[in-house]
This record gives sequence, structure tokens and C-alpha cells, in this order.
Amino acid sequence: MKIREIAPGEAPPMALLLLADPSKKAVASYLDTSECFIAETDDGIVGTYVAGGISDESAEIFNIAVAEEAQGQGIGRTMLLDAIERYEAKGYLWLHIGTGNSSIGQLALYQKCGFRIDGVIRDFFTANYEGKIIENGIWCRDMIRLVKALQCNTEIGG
Ligand SMILES: CC(C)(COP(=O)(O)OP(=O)(O)OC[C@H]1O[C@@H](n2cnc3c(N)ncnc32)[C@H](O)[C@@H]1OP(=O)(O)O)[C@@H](O)C(=O)NCCC(=O)NCCS
Repeated sequence: MKIREIAPGEAPPMALLLLADPSKKAVASYLDTSECFIAETDDGIVGTYVAGGISDESAEIFNIAVAEEAQGQGIGRTMLLDAIERYEAKGYLWLHIGTGNSSIGQLALYQKCGFRIDGVIRDFFTANYEGKIIENGIWCRDMIRLVKALQCNTEIGG
């Protein structure tokens, strides 16, 4: 599997991006200002992530998705590690990611990759997304913010 940034003029994999974020408006807004990467095998595109700088010190992963038939095979973890390496090499100190309070598997994966919970944006999804999102039988209302320290072994909070 190879991970590469999409080429100028190459269309981002919208169906995959919408799997992770059902808001076309949100996807369009961060695609405009960030970098989009794809994970490819001989069978085609199996995953994607969108990330970019949000300040001099911090970058954020805005979207990460793996094709349904390819999930659970380590592709998500490989893309997260790719993002960590890439944004560390660019000189950023912190890599942020946000997910829903109901996204149990995602919260597990991000913490296994070294991200730590850094805050909660209460009612983010109820305020910004149409319709009620239910996942794992839980109402998705709040955004859990996570962050990973780059560049050194510094752990947030000691
Ligand atoms: C989230 C997503 C990107 C993960 O990609 P993936 O390729 O399926 O994930 P991986 O196979 O790399 O890793 C899954 C890891 O999470 C762990 N995990 C998943 N659900 C878990 C749970 N409920 N409890 C504990 N661990 C869990 C797995 O055990 C695995 O860890 P391991 O590598 O130590 O075994 C993918 O499932 C996806 O695209 N989902 C839909 C879109 C989405 O929700 N995107 C994120 C929006 S915030």
C-alpha cells in the first residue's frame, strides 16, 4: 500500500470523505485549505485523510476514512502514523483530531496511536449537523478533541 498526496487537479475521493463526515459543506471548506492524501493498493483507493496546519505550532487531521470493505486491516492506523510522521517532519509540535462522543472505535484507535483527550466541544454536532446522528446506540452530540505531541517524547499533562 502506498500513501501519497493527491496530484494537482486530481479529484479528492468524496465518497470516502463523506463516510467520515456527512457534511458536504464542512468537507468542502477544509479541502479548500488543507492537503488530501490517499492510500492506494493495486485494487485502487482504499483510504484517505485530509490534514493541514491550523497555527504555526499545530496541525489537524480533519478527516480520515477507510473504504468499508477494507476496514479493520490496519489501514486507518497506517494513515494516522503517516500523518504523525509527515506533520512532525514539517516542524509542527502538536497534531489534533476531533471525533464524536459516540465514535467508540475511533476513540480507541486514536488513543492507541498516542493521541490524548484534550477537551470537549459540547453540542458541536447538534449545532452544526442536520438530523440526529446515532452511532453505537449513542446520540452523537459532542466533539471529543484529542492531541498528540510531536517532535519529542513530551506527554501532555505530564
Ligand atoms: C475509523 C477508521 C478510519 C479506522 O480505520 P481502520 O482501517 O478500520 O482501522 P484499523 O484497522 O487501522 O485499526 C482499528 C484499531 O482500532 C481498534 N478498535 C476499533 N474499534 C474498537 C473498539 N470498539 N474498542 C477497542 N479497540 C477498537 C482496533 O482494535 C484496531 O486496533 P489494533 O490495531 O490495536 O488492533 C475506519 O473504520 C473508517 O473509515 N470509519 C468510517 C469513517 C470514520 O468514522 N472516520 C473517522 C471520523 S472521526
